[in-house]
Amino acid sequence: MPQQHRYRSNSYFFLAERGLSIPPVKLQQTRLEKSKLTIHRYYIKGDCQGSPTRASEWIGTLVADYIGITAPPPVVIQRLNGDLVFGSRRLAGVADDVITQNYLMNSANLEPNSSSLTGILSSIYAFDLFINNVDRHFGNYLTVQDIGARRLFAFDYGRSLFFRWPWTDFPAPGDHTRICGKVLRSTHGFDVQAAHAVLDKLARVAPTVIDAFLNQMPGEWLPQPLRREFIRVWSEEGRHARINALRKGLDDGSLL
Ligand SMILES: Nc1ncnc2c1ncn2[C@@H]1O[C@H](COP(=O)(O)OP(=O)(O)OP(=O)(O)O)[C@@H](O)[C@H]1O
Ligand SMILES: [Mg+2]
Repeated sequence: MPQQHRYRSNSYFFLAERGLSIPPVKLQQTRLEKSKLTIHRYYIKGDCQGSPTRASEWIGTLVADYIGITAPPPVVIQRLNGDLVFGSRRLAGVADDVITQNYLMNSANLEPNSSSLTGILSSIYAFDLFINNVDRHFGNYLTVQDIGARRLFAFDYGRSLFFRWPWTDFPAPGDHTRICGKVLRSTHGFDVQAAHAVLDKLARVAPTVIDAFLNQMPGEWLPQPLRREFIRVWSEEGRHARINALRKGLDDGSLL
């Protein structure tokens, strides 16, 4: 039995040692044993309280990465009981939570090469608002120390997209994303240009890209009607209307 942790939600996390590609193919035990040096470990997550958490994680993580917001690589993991769960690759050398939160909260402590932190945080904020991620609290960032720089990763998209469906609202002022966003802005400021640049990129993501992401995910993770609706909203005016509403909210401060 792999090491197991329980966090505040109903999700469980394992350090799992088996990643699958889609279509799922079980890795041979012998191959795992022989390649111990290259094995990655994954934090895994199932659906939670009737919400398609795995699909939200999968799409949120892949779209983030596609537009340049760094996230730990996602993988489909098959548990020993056959369940297909979302896996987030454990980053090598990931810093302790306290170090990451100190980094986020103390502008005076910033290390060299982190002058673009304001831009990165502003990009993440705009992206979270777009995908309606209501849960960007300080525990949903990771950092890794890398030759004189600290690399920032945004992860945990479980409470985005299909968590509050239909995809019409933005995170509310009382949601973690807005509350923590405000705290981060008071420390680092806000880079409006970086936020708009993310929206420009999202406006250019073709529906075929989203379709490919959906096709790499096990079909059972998202009911067909929801999948069709998501593609429809992405393909039609809905996505551009959302982006325009977000631009307006960032410019007039109502979504800050
Ligand atoms: N890829 C990863 N690399 C390193 N640590 C990770 C990774 N994925 C998850 N973790 C660890 O597992 C914890 C829980 O993961 P995650 O935030 O996805 O779950 P959660 O139940 O949605 O959490 P919460 O509701 O508290 O935000 C994280 O706070 C982090 O410590
Ligand atoms: Mg989390």
